Amino acid sequence: MPKIPAHIAFIMDGNGRWAQRQQLPRKVGHRVGGENAIRMIKACCKRGVKILTLFAFSSENWNRPKQEVTEILHILRTLFDREVQQIHALNICMRVIGDLSHLPSALYTKIKEIECLTRDKTGLILVIAIGYGGQWDILQAVQALAQQVSQGLLRAEDITHERFSQQLQLLDLPAPDLCIRTGGEYRISNFLLWHLAYSELYFTSILWPDFNDLALDEAITAYTARDRRFGTLHEITA
Ligand code: FPP
Repeated sequence: MPKIPAHIAFIMDGNGRWAQRQQLPRKVGHRVGGENAIRMIKACCKRGVKILTLFAFSSENWNRPKQEVTEILHILRTLFDREVQQIHALNICMRVIGDLSHLPSALYTKIKEIECLTRDKTGLILVIAIGYGGQWDILQAVQALAQQVSQGLLRAEDITHERFSQQLQLLDLPAPDLCIRTGGEYRISNFLLWHLAYSELYFTSILWPDFNDLALDEAITAYTARDRRFGTLHEITA
């Protein structure tokens, strides 16, 4: 039985190429990708993953053509509307991280509603990154702490690793143990820059809509074989 990573993070890449390969509009790729996100949430629940973080929409994705941005945000809202009862029934606690200030108000309201509804759930913690950028996250943490310093509430020398981490969007959640990127690119794309410092990275050429249970199990098996030394000379079990 492989050791299941407590926290898995996904960079869900390849929706557009998946659609293009089948001569379908890109929005169909996002729609199928969205359905796959729901499947993977359930797959992670089943495997006993404790925290699942999905990179749904990056701060840079705002620079895509307006129509595509609208389509992606519409897909997210439709999925949230449709899945809210399931999320609840599966005992999932859902949190959204990112700069939500530019979201359409209906999507924003829905997110807050689900966060509130699932706040006390004790199963999988599902984190969805929307309008999220790792650099933005670090900046907003620095600004919050600088403000406390300028108000005399905090001394600069008291800004510890722990205090800084707690200002980041993941708050008290531990860093991902395993970060999986689909779609064949080998980069982090401004995802959880602070938190990925010692995460195990797994890259696959499978396009996100095709990433299935078997692929997930392969990624977990690969993770199990890694030696996690965190800069030391011997393995440290998370
Ligand atoms: C990247 O594919 C994917 C996105 C920009 C995000 C879309 C994600 C969803 C619709 C699923 C979210 C759903 C939930 C419930 C969290 P790409 O367009 O960059 O693909 P490409 O590299 O092939 O063009």
